[in-house]
Amino acid sequence: PKVIAVVPAAGIGSRMKAECPKQYLPLADSCILAVTLDVLLSHPAIDEVFVALNADDQFFAQLPQAQHPKLHQVIGGAERVDSVIAALKQIDDAVSWALVHDAARPCLTHADIDKLLASREQYPQGAILAAPVRDTMKRARKDGCIDTTVPRDALWHALTPQFFPTATLLPALEQAVQAGVNVTDEASAMEWAGVAPGLVSGRADNIKVTHPDDLPLAALYLAHHRS
Ligand code: C5P
Repeated sequence: PKVIAVVPAAGIGSRMKAECPKQYLPLADSCILAVTLDVLLSHPAIDEVFVALNADDQFFAQLPQAQHPKLHQVIGGAERVDSVIAALKQIDDAVSWALVHDAARPCLTHADIDKLLASREQYPQGAILAAPVRDTMKRARKDGCIDTTVPRDALWHALTPQFFPTATLLPALEQAVQAGVNVTDEASAMEWAGVAPGLVSGRADNIKVTHPDDLPLAALYLAHHRS
């Protein structure tokens, strides 16, 4: 079956406090979004890439990737999940699988994509890249003191890409939103729909650039991957 990538890139990145949306901040001679798109566009098993952009986007047209034959642009929505739904609605092929990947995760490697693609046999309903939690985890009381230590052996950080059949992902996302679920990733909608997605262990340096401090870290990881 066909594999497509969906890249929600319609956020305004308010937590970065920058003049431009965070996906356009400079990274490795280009910008975060360009680096992310290059990883996906250059992967031989990915047939097409759908990028969801803000309706007011003023930057995307200037990227060299904008003209790439594998790339399609769609207008995103108010929340990340709305942007993903908007992109999936453009895909008419009911038998395809979608890799949904945050624009703000430029340090993704082809090796991790390969691992996730290969998990399709083991997890026919879909899977996500994830990293085991490393720190000791605490649950807080309302007063800010520690209530309890949460056993960390069963805890994972949910990363992206998240890999699901489009035929089940789109209805799960739409129905979960309709039901008022806080859909912060694709897996949460699938879980709500009764599916138990697989956890595929990925690199912990596949970070999401969220705060200003994350950008130099992403640059460092990229330089390290490329050396
Ligand atoms: O803000 P946050 O880091 O959680 O956003 C995750 C990803 O979702 C980013 O790549 C962002 O551009 C995207 N997004 C989107 N549409 C929105 C909000 C966020 O595509 N309305």
